[in-house]
Amino acid sequence: MRQAARIREVFHTVKPRLEMVDQFFERELDQALPMVREVGGYVLGSGGKRIRPALVLLISRMLGYNGDRDVRYGAVVELIHTATLIHDDIIDGSDLRRGKPTANRRWNNETTVLVGDWLYSRSMDLCLEYGDVDVMRRLNAATLRMTEGEILSASVRGRVDVSEATYLDITQRKTAELFAAACCLPALFEPSLNRFEGHLHRFGINLGLCFQLIDDVLDFTSAREELGKPVMADLREGRATLPIILMLEKVDQETRDKVAEVARTRAFGSLSEEELLDRIHQSGVLDEVRRRAASLADQAVEVARFLPESPERDALIGATHLLLERRK
Ligand code: IPE
Ligand code: IPE
Ligand code: MG
Ligand code: MG
Repeated sequence: MRQAARIREVFHTVKPRLEMVDQFFERELDQALPMVREVGGYVLGSGGKRIRPALVLLISRMLGYNGDRDVRYGAVVELIHTATLIHDDIIDGSDLRRGKPTANRRWNNETTVLVGDWLYSRSMDLCLEYGDVDVMRRLNAATLRMTEGEILSASVRGRVDVSEATYLDITQRKTAELFAAACCLPALFEPSLNRFEGHLHRFGINLGLCFQLIDDVLDFTSAREELGKPVMADLREGRATLPIILMLEKVDQETRDKVAEVARTRAFGSLSEEELLDRIHQSGVLDEVRRRAASLADQAVEVARFLPESPERDALIGATHLLLERRK
């Protein structure tokens, strides 16, 4: 309990800067075309958790950075994240995000693709305005990996014969690389901080993998209202996530065929949602995925020991463990 209170306190210290990130978005949107202002304002104002900018801000503080790049690049990382999320919702045909209709549902695919492109292009502009080519190179590499993750995911979509190795490769690219970039950026703000880049990268990769494993568990365990996005959606969208991959090793051929049919047809038919959920729970795979997420969190914490000892580092370690218990 005392530890939780300490973490809250440290996060409290970056809260004013997180508000500055939101003000940064407002200024950006004020100058944008009406369509960007409307759609961009809608998605950026709909209350994401802001985990990636919080990492940029907290790690900057941990490294003793005092300039204004933390706010700018916290905003940039969230702009990239938002652009990919609204594109992801089109790909997934999703109707709910952050508890509100997705942009593709509220407007349409054309508008959403264009606004996503604008958000991404503007984020690169924001690096160039400061002449921060290293930062831009790092973010562009992460976005490239993320796009490759979505491409690889699309190429196995509808199939359940996906190996764990393929799943982890996709997960590292589509989610962990942007987490890693967010964690690394502060090491690029000043030459004296460069030496932390390697450890911050490894910390971010482990944290991001852990985050996506829990996201894939929440698809089975959470409720639409709580999560703010569809649940029981991954298999119906044709995606075999780790719980499904592990479950398929434990069930009979008939069940395997039925699960494959849901992914192929993108609809629950001979296997109902309730039956799938029963099988998932009976097979114990959710605990197995949670254990693996916990082990990734432990690996992140191991790496964090190489970072400067500080209240921020303690908060980062505490927050890593708390991510395992997140409900949204
Ligand atoms: C959603 O990320 C996409 C994944 C990597 C699972 P978040 O869960 O951080 O989304 P928001 O920003 O809080 O809505
Ligand atoms: C993360 O995967 C998407 C990106 C990193 C672009 P998901 O498809 O699981 O994310 P949600 O569940 O839609 O938020
Ligand atoms: Mg999705
Ligand atoms: Mg998901």
